Amino acid sequence: MAEMQWSEGMGIDMPQMDATHQESVALVRAVQGASDEHIMAAWEQLLAHTEAHFAQEDAWMQATRFAAGNCHSTQHQQVLQIMQGGTERARQGRLGELRLMANELAVWLPHHIDAMDAGLAYHLRQVGFDPASGHIAHPEALPQEPLQGWGGASAMGCDEPVAGQAGG
Ligand SMILES: [Fe+2]
Ligand SMILES: [Fe+2]
Repeated sequence: MAEMQWSEGMGIDMPQMDATHQESVALVRAVQGASDEHIMAAWEQLLAHTEAHFAQEDAWMQATRFAAGNCHSTQHQQVLQIMQGGTERARQGRLGELRLMANELAVWLPHHIDAMDAGLAYHLRQVGFDPASGHIAHPEALPQEPLQGWGGASAMGCDEPVAGQAGG
C-alpha cells in the first residue's frame, strides 16, 4: 500500500481542521513506513493525536448544538476503540497489525473528512463559529433541536451523506 499523502482535495475550507488533518496524514504515513523497532512509538503518537483531534471536533459539535450521541462523534468513538485494540495486540507482539491498521486509516480518513468533517465545517461556517474563541457570530442559525446526524443538513440521520451534499 502506498504511503498516505495529503492532497488539496482533502481540504474543507476550515484552516484549523485542515491543519489537524495534515498532521494526521503525516502521522499515519510515519506508522506505515516505520520499522518494527520504531512502529510502537509512531503508533502511540498517532493515537494521542487522534484522541485530541476527535476531542476537538466533538467539543465544537457540543458547542454548536449537536446531540451527544450524534453519528460523527459515535464514529470517532468507534475508531478510537479499534485503535486502542490495536495497541493492546501490538503490546502482545503483533506489531504487523499496526501497519495494517495504518493502511486502513489511510483509506478511512479521507472518507471521514469528506463524509463527516466537511459537514461539520459547513455547519460551523453557517453559525459563524470562531474556533479560537468559541464565539458564535450567528446564533440565530443554530438548529432548534440538537443535531443527531453529521451536520450537513439538519434532517439527515446517520446514513452517510451523498457526495456533494456535505456543503463544501
Ligand atoms: Fe477530523
Ligand atoms: Fe471527524
